[in-house]
Amino acid sequence: MKKVGILTSGGDCQGLNAAIRGVAKSLYEEFNDEVEIYGIRDGYSGLIHGNYTKMEKRDFSGILTLGGTILGTSRQPFKMMRVIDEETSLDKVKAMKDNYKKMGLDCLVILGGNGTHKSANMLSEEGLNVVSMPKTIDNDVWGTDMTFGFYSAVDIATQVIDCIHTTATSHGRVFIVEIMGHKVGWLNLYAGIAGGADVILLPEIPYDIEKVADVLEKRERGGKQFTILAVAEGAISKQEAAMKKKEFKASRAAMQYPSVSYRLAAELESISGHEVRVTVPGHFQRGGSPCAYDRVLCTRFGAAAARLIKDERYGFMTGLRNGEIVAVPLGEVAGKLKKVPVDCDEIVAARDMGISFGD
Ligand code: F6P
Repeated sequence: MKKVGILTSGGDCQGLNAAIRGVAKSLYEEFNDEVEIYGIRDGYSGLIHGNYTKMEKRDFSGILTLGGTILGTSRQPFKMMRVIDEETSLDKVKAMKDNYKKMGLDCLVILGGNGTHKSANMLSEEGLNVVSMPKTIDNDVWGTDMTFGFYSAVDIATQVIDCIHTTATSHGRVFIVEIMGHKVGWLNLYAGIAGGADVILLPEIPYDIEKVADVLEKRERGGKQFTILAVAEGAISKQEAAMKKKEFKASRAAMQYPSVSYRLAAELESISGHEVRVTVPGHFQRGGSPCAYDRVLCTRFGAAAARLIKDERYGFMTGLRNGEIVAVPLGEVAGKLKKVPVDCDEIVAARDMGISFGD
């Protein structure tokens, strides 16, 4: 009997249940039902504290379209993993290894993003058999062209821009839509292009406020009364990009606005005299059913993870490269960030048709 544990860690996203279903159903097929699956609660927290349950085959039915994660999730910062808790003297790494042994696992399947993969690699280096799948709306996991959750979030963020468009045109207003994505601009780039934004600001391309204001003026001169700016939550100005990390952190801590979009709105209002409104869809972007693309991707990743387990190939993340499913060594994934290349085709195409990146 093969014993496999599954956990979902970090921020939730669309497709987590579809991926859980994908790997579980494939495992039952691969091992002719000779497999026991343990659902570990709330990410690494459940592995640390021994919070898990044996799942039944039926638990994996009817969850393909379900948002969130049936296993629950939590954020357990990697940098704290090896820190012994002062009050309880809890050694988290030892506790995870002990619980893995207690469950009698042959393998641990981990679904997560960047931070999760650092810990997944650490557990693999500690001798646990680990197979992982890349999830996040940010699409910033190194080693895969696509993470699941990304396209579903792109659809939602695009719908937000679409809806804002109608109000912006009716009122002749300037609107900023702030899109998630943490330190990278994938989500904002795709939603911005798909939603027909006039300005797209990404962390990878620091903006010049005067250049952004120029766009408003140019559009007004051309008879356009409204402008839509898609702004990544991680967008930074050219001045900020020139700062040292510490200086940047201090200047952001002192910022009197809740986010970069509100600062941008205030600056644009004062330069251009336009009324600027801000919309922040926030966690809305991670909610609800996975889109069709993500359902297929989760199914493919799940089946690939089950194959790796069948072949006893551990220490890999399933990835997508040039349309093919690949196995990427965890050691190559951990600690890297997949940023948007500033000369990628999407940006070139957007620039070609007049979209401004504020630079
Ligand atoms: O990583 C996914 C993400 O939604 C980011 O885009 C965002 O910066 C972050 O998580 C928000 O984290 P939390 O859900 O902890 O507020």
